[in-house]
Amino acid sequence: MTMGTAIITGASSGIGAVYAERLARRGYDLVLVARDRGRLAALAERLAKEHGVAVTPLAANLTRDSDREEVLTMLREDEGLSLLVNCAGIAPNAPLLNSERGGLESMLHLNVDVLHSLAVTAAQAFAGRRRGAIINIASVVALMPERFNASYCASKAFVLAFTQAISAELNPYGVQVQAVLPGFTRTELFERAGVDIAAIPPEMIMEAGDMVDAALAGFDRGEVVTIPSLADVQLWSDLENARLALAPYLSLKQPAARYKVGTGAP
Ligand SMILES: NC(=O)c1ccc[n+]([C@@H]2O[C@H](COP(=O)([O-])OP(=O)(O)OC[C@H]3O[C@@H](n4cnc5c(N)ncnc54)[C@H](OP(=O)(O)O)[C@@H]3O)[C@@H](O)[C@H]2O)c1
Repeated sequence: MTMGTAIITGASSGIGAVYAERLARRGYDLVLVARDRGRLAALAERLAKEHGVAVTPLAANLTRDSDREEVLTMLREDEGLSLLVNCAGIAPNAPLLNSERGGLESMLHLNVDVLHSLAVTAAQAFAGRRRGAIINIASVVALMPERFNASYCASKAFVLAFTQAISAELNPYGVQVQAVLPGFTRTELFERAGVDIAAIPPEMIMEAGDMVDAALAGFDRGEVVTIPSLADVQLWSDLENARLALAPYLSLKQPAARYKVGTGAP
């Protein structure tokens, strides 16, 4: 059985470009999506030559409706597609109070709306075919919203919650879904945002190759959530178990007694 075709957004640089290389090495044919036509063409030519797979560069600005529709049509109609890697994303360079609202909204459009529309379309197509997988690139800031720009953190929290939810829904159809939560990873993300990566402690920065290799190892193990730098996976399990322990108490007829509602008490 062939690996099929992986479609990778944000494939022209950083994490997406590493996924392209690693998936080509695994024998996937590729569709590489980003805006920079020249970089995509060069990467496609190199990967096809080095790995003997078919690589199609698809230049698209995913925040432009017509470009995005081209990718959505491919997801709906190309029966050979077996993996979507949702990686295109941007980051801000300042806290919320120092950011232009328009810039934050553009970021949310790419990080949330675009990722969502691609993932929904892939989920429906893959479920119909009973085959396929979706990898969504989130971030550890989904778990640390107080530590970084609020809008960016919330965009990545969306990716995490959305992935956990669709994983549960798609599992019965044989479709695998994974959220990857990188910490700081050495890519162009910082330069593009105007952030000096030298200001970040080096022991907190992972090389993009290591990050993707760990994420793919998690994918091979069937992890729904992969945190590449987390050595003690029990810490994540504890958080999940604590979250799920809330379930019986989250929606009840009566307000909790500690709010003293209806008791006449002040
Ligand atoms: N680096 C980190 O520390 C880090 C940590 C956690 C999560 N992440 C996440 O990892 C993902 C990849 O980022 P990266 O670190 O690899 O940064 P990167 O090197 O800047 O890559 C971003 C990619 O997104 C593409 N892109 C940006 N806007 C686009 C648009 N409108 N339409 C289509 N493609 C677009 C870029 O290509 P073009 O310019 O050619 O369009 C590029 O290929 C992002 O979702 C980011 O939030 C990164």
